[in-house]
Amino acid sequence: MDARLTQLPDHPDATEPEPFAGPDNPMRMMTRAKAFGEAWEPSDSSRVQEIFDGMAASWSESHVDPVKAAPVEDALDRGGLPLDGHWLEVGSGTGAGARILEHRVASLVCSDLAAEMLRHAPDIAPRVRADASQLPFPDRSFNAILLINMLLFPAEIDRLLRPAGAILWVNTLGDQTPIHLPPFDVLEALPGAWTGQTALAGTGFWLTARRA
Ligand SMILES: C[S@@+](CC[C@H](N)C(=O)[O-])C[C@H]1O[C@@H](n2cnc3c(N)ncnc32)[C@H](O)[C@@H]1O
Repeated sequence: MDARLTQLPDHPDATEPEPFAGPDNPMRMMTRAKAFGEAWEPSDSSRVQEIFDGMAASWSESHVDPVKAAPVEDALDRGGLPLDGHWLEVGSGTGAGARILEHRVASLVCSDLAAEMLRHAPDIAPRVRADASQLPFPDRSFNAILLINMLLFPAEIDRLLRPAGAILWVNTLGDQTPIHLPPFDVLEALPGAWTGQTALAGTGFWLTARRA
C-alpha cells in the first residue's frame, strides 16, 4: 500500500458485504466521474434529488441498523478525529450519521440536496438543504466533514475544511456500495497532498484523511 495511506487492523466484527453493486453500477460510475472532475450539471442535481426524494420514506426505516453504524463508530473510536470541533455532514440523508454523531461531537450541521430525505431526519442538528457541489458555508468553517455513501466534491470539501481538519469517508457496504470510491482514490481526488488512515468495520470501511 502507498505510504500516504495507513491500513489499521480490521475491527473484530468486520465482515465481507454481500454482492450488491458492482463496478458497472451507474451510481458507482457517476461517483468516480464527479470526484475526478466531470462537471456536476443541473440535470445531475435534479436527477439525484428526484431519486432520493422518492426513496426517503423507506430509507428512514431501513438505514438505521448497527451494521451501517459500525464503520462510523469505529472511526470515531480510533480515527483520531477532532470530536471537540465543528462538524459538517454532507449528504446526511435521513440522519443515520447524525444519530451517531449526536452524543459524540461538539457541534454538527447536516446538509443534503433532497428535501424529503432531510424531512425524514431527526431534529437533532440543523438541517440545510443544499447541493454539495456548492455549499452555503464560508471557507474553512469546519474541523471535520463526514460523508457516508455520498458523492465526493473535492474542491468544495477542500474549501470548507480548516487547515488541520479531517474528513471521514465511509462506505457501509465496502466496494459493494453504489456510491463508492476506495480510500486511496479519495486521497487522489482531493486537491493537493493528503494522508489517510483506513480500516474495515461492519460490512464497510472508513477513511480519515488530512492534508499532508
Ligand atoms: C446513499 S444516500 C446516503 C444518505 C446517508 N448518508 C446515509 O448513509 O443514510 C446519498 C445521499 O446523498 C445526497 N446527495 C446526493 N448528491 C448530493 C449533492 N450533490 N448534494 C447534496 N446531497 C447529495 C442524497 O440526497 C442522499 O440523501
